[in-house]
Amino acid sequence: MIDHLGRQIGYLRLSVTDRCNCRCTYCMPEQGVRSIGHENVMTFEEMAAVVEAAASLGVHKVRLTGGEPLVRAGVMDLVRMVAGTPGVDEVCMTTNGCLLAPMAEELKAAGLDRVNVSLDTLDPGRYRAITRCGRLEDALAGLDAAERVGLGPVRINAVLMGGVNDEDVRPLAELARDRDLSVRFIELMPIGEAAEWPRERFVPAERVLEEVPELQPTEGAPGVAELFSAPGWVGTVGLIRPVSHRFCSQCDRIRVTADGMLKPCLHSSREIPLRGLVGNQLVEAIRQGVAAKPERHHLEERASESLRGMNAIGG
Ligand code: GTP
Ligand code: 5AD
Ligand code: SF4
Repeated sequence: MIDHLGRQIGYLRLSVTDRCNCRCTYCMPEQGVRSIGHENVMTFEEMAAVVEAAASLGVHKVRLTGGEPLVRAGVMDLVRMVAGTPGVDEVCMTTNGCLLAPMAEELKAAGLDRVNVSLDTLDPGRYRAITRCGRLEDALAGLDAAERVGLGPVRINAVLMGGVNDEDVRPLAELARDRDLSVRFIELMPIGEAAEWPRERFVPAERVLEEVPELQPTEGAPGVAELFSAPGWVGTVGLIRPVSHRFCSQCDRIRVTADGMLKPCLHSSREIPLRGLVGNQLVEAIRQGVAAKPERHHLEERASESLRGMNAIGG
């Protein structure tokens, strides 16, 4: 599938629930958000039909996101279903990792290839303050389990928040010193809860290179991150810079929300309903979504136009 700007779309991010066991400050208000409701969440059959239709159009990589995908009952069956879809050659998941340790082995057996674990700090107190509900030791146990069962190389996502986790940059980066993983620092995007945050929270990812000056550019697995490493380090450090170094011209993805709306872009308000469509109708709706993909976001000038917060998109 190629869009009108020549971008090859081969990656589907499927949000399997908008619920979460955490309440990260940048993602959800303290009291949580009204869920889209059980009756509005796509069934497994509907998700299977969406994945099949997308695969028939050339999608080969599927990422399960949330909310937190591991709180969706029957997530193992979902993984199995996606992994068994002809044309899908890579199944990934983005998770906060807190529920991962006891599930890792079964997820791997179900066909999951890789996980990305969100981890914004290595300080237990700050972890609690940022996630409001999570325990650092659970997330770290999830990370260890993922590596142990072969759900790697794991990618760690750390959102940079000025005045919140500045001191965590070096310790987080150093996880890549002895472990075959990639620690990716992400520029905070003004979307959802973070849309109106004060300017000083938005720090350019360049800051990471100032904090860890031994990092040098390196090559590695393709993706939205620019990769760095240091002499003698096993893993890599990635910079994901949607704000200071927009990567929209290389965008290769579409998103589908748990209530079955196709989002051509993370930051656009455009949503195309997929529920109730079958067979060719579904294929056509996805085509239409790709055709509606905007050229770029405008986060440099204004907040995201997305009507949903990150909890309902999954990043
Ligand atoms: P890999 O397959 O491991 O490369 O994963 P990924 O980077 O595509 O996914 P992940 O869920 O780990 O997302 C990492 C960060 O990048 C999150 O903060 C996302 O919101 C952000 N991100 C992912 N895709 C896009 C995108 O299309 N646009 C923008 N602006 N940010 C994105
Ligand atoms: N800006 C940047 N990244 C964000 N994430 C959630 N909200 C934001 C935001 N406002 C990240 C999470 C998770 C990934 C899917 O998106 O930390 O790792
Ligand atoms: Fe949950 Fe992820 Fe949002 Fe945090 S960022 S509240 S872990 S969905």
